[in-house]
Amino acid sequence: MAQDDLMLMGEFFDHVSEDYDVVHMSHVDRGEEFYQALSLPVAATQLPVKVLDIGCGSGLELEAFFAKASNAHIHCIDLSARLMAKLLSKYADYAVTAHLGSYLTYEYPRNHYNYVLASSTLHHLLDAEKSKLFLALREALIPGGRLIVGDYYLSPAAAAKKLAEYDELVASGIDLSNGKYHFDVPTSAVHEMELLTEAGFTPVRTVWESSNYAVIVADKR
Ligand SMILES: C[S@@+](CC[C@H](N)C(=O)[O-])C[C@H]1O[C@@H](n2cnc3c(N)ncnc32)[C@H](O)[C@@H]1O
Repeated sequence: MAQDDLMLMGEFFDHVSEDYDVVHMSHVDRGEEFYQALSLPVAATQLPVKVLDIGCGSGLELEAFFAKASNAHIHCIDLSARLMAKLLSKYADYAVTAHLGSYLTYEYPRNHYNYVLASSTLHHLLDAEKSKLFLALREALIPGGRLIVGDYYLSPAAAAKKLAEYDELVASGIDLSNGKYHFDVPTSAVHEMELLTEAGFTPVRTVWESSNYAVIVADKR
C-alpha cells in the first residue's frame, strides 16, 4: 500500500457517509445486537446525565442510549462533517451538541461526564496513543462514571500481523500516527482491557462479544 491509497481520517468518513450505516453494519458480526449491547451498562434514568461520544459518526450507538436515558445531554466529537450532519438531523429532538475535530486534542472538562462512549473508533490507534487518551477520558468522567468501549478486535496473532503491516508503512515513510489516515490497527479485546486497567479504570470487563466485535465497560471509582 502507498500513501496515495490512504485517505485522511475525516475525508474517508465524509467520502463513505452516504452508505455508511448499511456498509458499516455489514462488517459487524451481530451488528444490531452490538449497538444494543453498548447500552447494556447504562442505568435507565430520566435524569439529564452528561455523556461524551467520541468518534460518534452518524450516531448508530445513540438510539439505544436515548431509549434508556431520553433526557441525556450528549456531546459528540468527530472529524467527519458529513456523518456529524447525519447525526444532528437524526437526533434533532434530543439534547445533542457537536464538536468537529479530533478527540485526541480536545480539551476535556474534568470530573464532568457520567458516561463516555467510544464505538468502533479506537481501532485506528496504537497502544501508546490509546493509553494517553484513556487517562484523559478517566479524568473527564465523574467518580462512579463509566467508559463504554465497543470495537472491532482480533486474536493476538492477527493483531500482531496487522501491526507489522502498520510498521511497514511507517518504515516506508508514511506518517500513520494518531489515526491520521484511515488504516485499521485493531488489538485484541484482552489487550484493550489491559490498557484500560493500566489507565486506572476498575473494574474492567467484557459485557458482550461476537466473532469480531466486543463491548468493554471500564469504571472510574
Ligand atoms: C467506524 S466510525 C464509527 C462511528 C460510530 N461511532 C459508529 O459506531 O457507527 C469511526 C468514526 O471515528 C471518527 N474518528 C476517527 N478518529 C477520530 C479522531 N481522532 N477524532 C474524532 N473522530 C475520529 C471517524 O471520523 C468516524 O466517524
